[in-house]
Amino acid sequence: MLVRLPGVYRPQRDTWLLAEALAARDLGPGTRVLDLCCGTGALSVEACAAGAGWVTAVDVSRRAAISTWLNAKLNRRTIRVVRGDLVDAVRTLRFDVVVANPPYAPATDDGTPGRVLARAWDAGVDGRAVLDRICSETPDLLAPGGTLLLVQSTLNGVDKTRAMLEERGLRVDVVASEDVPFGPALASRTRMLESRELIRPGQRTERIAVLAATDLRSGGTRHRPTRR
Ligand SMILES: C[S@@+](CC[C@H](N)C(=O)[O-])C[C@H]1O[C@@H](n2cnc3c(N)ncnc32)[C@H](O)[C@@H]1O
Repeated sequence: MLVRLPGVYRPQRDTWLLAEALAARDLGPGTRVLDLCCGTGALSVEACAAGAGWVTAVDVSRRAAISTWLNAKLNRRTIRVVRGDLVDAVRTLRFDVVVANPPYAPATDDGTPGRVLARAWDAGVDGRAVLDRICSETPDLLAPGGTLLLVQSTLNGVDKTRAMLEERGLRVDVVASEDVPFGPALASRTRMLESRELIRPGQRTERIAVLAATDLRSGGTRHRPTRR
């Protein structure tokens, strides 16, 4: 059971596709999981249920942080909840799994959304405002051999995400994908998306993909691919 304060993202297909990828991993009492952009904390609760012993949840929204805290109590799970901007509050910690369902909808402009709910999905004109930061900032949080599990839409560049993460020495695999009907944000912007040629005329579904980006270190420093 999950509760949700007004304006907090209701877990959707992207949440559950990521939850399935998370549950498929070998989580144990010693596994440290970070749920970045936690919303209701649905993924934190899933991580605990799948056996992870140390779960930390972060969201910039006060209402989301409170919702996650309430859901931890309701589900009798121990989850450390932090309100903060992405990795700011956890920069010194290391995690075996970082799971992230960030905002990734292409928006009308690059401004920071005012409404809580808009902040859950709007991510600048190209939909990458938070994704790019996650690609830059989370690799350093991974323990040797750790994995970032990230969900996004193919509308905003799985190849760019892959390139950014590989550039930082991670191995990237698409571990799940699914076509889903547009949610309310994209449904209200079909004309804009068509005019930018992000979708075909009449297209009303998007493909969401879960990427697993794994740190290849067996200890010591991360291998960075060299450029010729
Ligand atoms: C798509 S929702 C995902 C919520 C939840 N993880 C799920 O899958 O149901 C994205 C969440 O990211 C949060 N968020 C947006 N920008 C953020 C930032 N800079 N730092 C931390 N959280 C952020 C929003 O408040 C929102 O709760």
